[in-house]
Amino acid sequence: MDINGAGAIISGGASGLGEATSRTLAAAGAKVTIADLNADKGKALADEIGGQFVQTDVSDEASVAAAVDAAAATGVPLRIAVSCAGIGWASRVIGRDGSPHALGPFQKVLEVNLIGTFNMMRLAASAISTTEPMADGERGVIVNTASVAAFDGQIGQLAYSASKGGVVGMTLPAARDLAPVGIRVCTIAPGLFDTPLLGLLPPDQRGALAKDVVFPKRLGNAVEYGHLVRTIVENGYFNAEVFRLDGGLRMPPK
Ligand SMILES: NC(=O)c1ccc[n+]([C@@H]2O[C@H](COP(=O)([O-])OP(=O)(O)OC[C@H]3O[C@@H](n4cnc5c(N)ncnc54)[C@H](O)[C@@H]3O)[C@@H](O)[C@H]2O)c1
Repeated sequence: MDINGAGAIISGGASGLGEATSRTLAAAGAKVTIADLNADKGKALADEIGGQFVQTDVSDEASVAAAVDAAAATGVPLRIAVSCAGIGWASRVIGRDGSPHALGPFQKVLEVNLIGTFNMMRLAASAISTTEPMADGERGVIVNTASVAAFDGQIGQLAYSASKGGVVGMTLPAARDLAPVGIRVCTIAPGLFDTPLLGLLPPDQRGALAKDVVFPKRLGNAVEYGHLVRTIVENGYFNAEVFRLDGGLRMPPK
């Protein structure tokens, strides 16, 4: 699919992997709508790349509906929706003292990472389905973000792994559901990427994180994530697939 002249909405598009995606798609000629909670970073980036910012909470129905409406009203057809908004949480099923994992944080992580991704996918797909089809009957592409934690969840990653496993699980049925209207659905499962999330760690700890990466022995660069989004959008035969982007990393228990 040709990115030039297409509309794109990116949740979590103000920071990290989403920011790189916003930049990559804008540079390829897309009209980008950044849908993020963070207004300061989102507005500044939107101005820089000639896009628009809509303050959005992906877990809120009305909030995402408003963002998708804005993305569909830019004058070019909305064809690309990328979900990058996400949060983490670390807690074991029971703590060292035997106390149970709190329910609230588990619900919150599922609400943002899984329900938020579904919320964006359903509303964006509905808008994309109203556009004119292109070659092959294609109308658009949805790219969701899981994590290698969907497959190799570490100790204390229960909530996060469950949320990302849900994103992986939605990929095939969503692609099947959306095939009649010509929308492809793929998921990227990143390994460890050097984003503001991990940038909070001291450099020696960040370096240690890369020890289990097979090659190259470093954290991923967000630009590499944006590059894969671009590839998925441009290659019309990618569909219903989950792509690990991890330098061969298989995460150990801790
Ligand atoms: N960085 C990594 O190593 C890594 C690895 C695997 C998966 N991921 C996933 O990639 C995605 C992006 O992560 P990142 O590292 O770029 O993080 P990040 O913190 O740099 O960016 C996440 C963005 O999501 C936004 N956000 C959070 N909650 C939101 C909500 N409810 N509604 C709208 N926006 C919201 C934040 O404001 C932020 O701009 C997440 O889903 C994360 O789980 C990251």
